[in-house]
Amino acid sequence: MDFIDDRIERYAFNHTQDEGPLLTQLKQETHEKLELPQMLTGRLEGRFLKLLVQLLGAKRVLEIGTFSGYSALSMAEGLPEDGRLFTCDVDPAAIEMSKKYFHRSEHGSKITLLEGDAMKSVEKVDGPLDMVFIDADKVNYLNYYEAVLPKVRSGGLIVVDNVLWSGRVLNPKDESDHAIDDFNRSVHADDRVEGVLLTVRDGVYCLRKK
Ligand SMILES: C[S@@+](CC[C@H](N)C(=O)[O-])C[C@H]1O[C@@H](n2cnc3c(N)ncnc32)[C@H](O)[C@@H]1O
Repeated sequence: MDFIDDRIERYAFNHTQDEGPLLTQLKQETHEKLELPQMLTGRLEGRFLKLLVQLLGAKRVLEIGTFSGYSALSMAEGLPEDGRLFTCDVDPAAIEMSKKYFHRSEHGSKITLLEGDAMKSVEKVDGPLDMVFIDADKVNYLNYYEAVLPKVRSGGLIVVDNVLWSGRVLNPKDESDHAIDDFNRSVHADDRVEGVLLTVRDGVYCLRKK
């Protein structure tokens, strides 16, 4: 992210645990074959998501926005053997690549991939959920948040990606800029959750349900 000093980003990356060869390969193939590969969360955020899953002792996690499967596999690593991660996407090319890597990973059997529009997929996943990671179309962030909040257990987490939107939240112009800024304002004023907006990568909002 260009609003964080490159040297600091690199230093944080170098002092974060390695993601392992399969995820490194997935990252490379995503860059070679898919459009907008920068959407992939990567090592720093992926290891952070895994850590959150572990700290929560999570057994049921939902992700909105699979892309090529990097963050899904990162979170699945943190789940116990009987844990379950539901993840959803609409993009056929991304879905195809994610399936390939889910099959190749020892953690892939913990993952259920839901194909199609995320709002419909969310309806299919029963609570209680320990954690939800929202990382799909920005204009629907508030809709996703409202749809998942009732399913999250008390003490569970909703983690939301790209909430700094490369700094554009400071001077919102287009629809996505405004959607993210509106989302941040709404959840900040929502007394059903306690929130911390972290300057990790492109901004990660951690919202703990009371
Ligand atoms: C930022 S990427 C997700 C990155 C992924 N979490 C990772 O770390 O690699 C966003 C994804 O959301 C998907 N998406 C966008 N709108 C969607 C919708 N309405 N329903 C389901 N998925 C959607 C896109 O196809 C894209 O793959």
